[in-house]
Amino acid sequence: MSYDKSVSDHYVHGNLLNAIEAVLPAIGKTIETVTIEDLAPVDEFHIGGRLATDSLLNQLNFSKQSNLLDVGCGLGGAARYVAAKYKHHVAGIDLTPEYIATGNTLSNWLNLDDYVSLDQGSALTMPYQDNSFDGGYMLHVGMNIDDKVSLFAEISRVLKPGSTFGIYDIMRQKDGELIYPVPWASDSSTSKLSSPEHYIKALELAGFKISQVNNRREFSLDFFKQLRVKTMSKGGPPPLGLHILMQGSAADKVGNMVENIKNDFISPVEIIALKV
Ligand SMILES: C[S@@+](CC[C@H](N)C(=O)[O-])C[C@H]1O[C@@H](n2cnc3c(N)ncnc32)[C@H](O)[C@@H]1O
Repeated sequence: MSYDKSVSDHYVHGNLLNAIEAVLPAIGKTIETVTIEDLAPVDEFHIGGRLATDSLLNQLNFSKQSNLLDVGCGLGGAARYVAAKYKHHVAGIDLTPEYIATGNTLSNWLNLDDYVSLDQGSALTMPYQDNSFDGGYMLHVGMNIDDKVSLFAEISRVLKPGSTFGIYDIMRQKDGELIYPVPWASDSSTSKLSSPEHYIKALELAGFKISQVNNRREFSLDFFKQLRVKTMSKGGPPPLGLHILMQGSAADKVGNMVENIKNDFISPVEIIALKV
């Protein structure tokens, strides 16, 4: 099996769209009335969800841009949010066919098809022309991609000079044996974490200038603490949540990830880069 297939197989649910649609009545919604906010707990697959997306967006100057790129877009939750917020077109690309098919249907439910287009493909060979985008971002994707030098060279190729690019990935902080499974990998074979220093080097090689690096360790631990309190007080997770994507292994994957963060082996980190 190819490496890419192993990665996308890890994320495949099998019946994802139906699983999301099936819980809409529990939040009092239908496919006609569901909103971007309603879907955020299930379609923003990164630590901190919408809160974390806002943190990154606040450091990017997307309000002035017109054509944006979401690398490893997943279900496209962030792409729809960005498109609706700035009234710009967002193209998303992701390896997992089921995420792209489901994500495009969710965009259709929200009448955002004209603003958001999600394509299946690899971030390492994107089906876009050189200098196509005015800016972009990547949320929790690099953990599956070993060759960061090629990744950022490819991203640089499709961005116009002057573009800002925001990264929010889980990165290696120090050596140590990680506990698996985690949300992005069942074992070490598809877990390709790199240090912030390695990201910076790869970005600089690709022609980016770094303006910000923020370790989001405390934010992430606080987020999970609050989530645990909320889940316990409600007697379980809300109808729409990341447990739908991760199914039966959700608690183990998230618990192991938090343990790895607490051990200081890994941490979510934001990097803001400018293509010069
Ligand atoms: C943890 S999910 C994050 C999804 C989305 N960015 C979000 O925050 O909701 C990681 C995503 O990266 C995608 N991915 C991993 N390797 C990729 C690659 N080489 N090219 C494109 N997408 C990739 C996976 O298919 C998966 O959807």
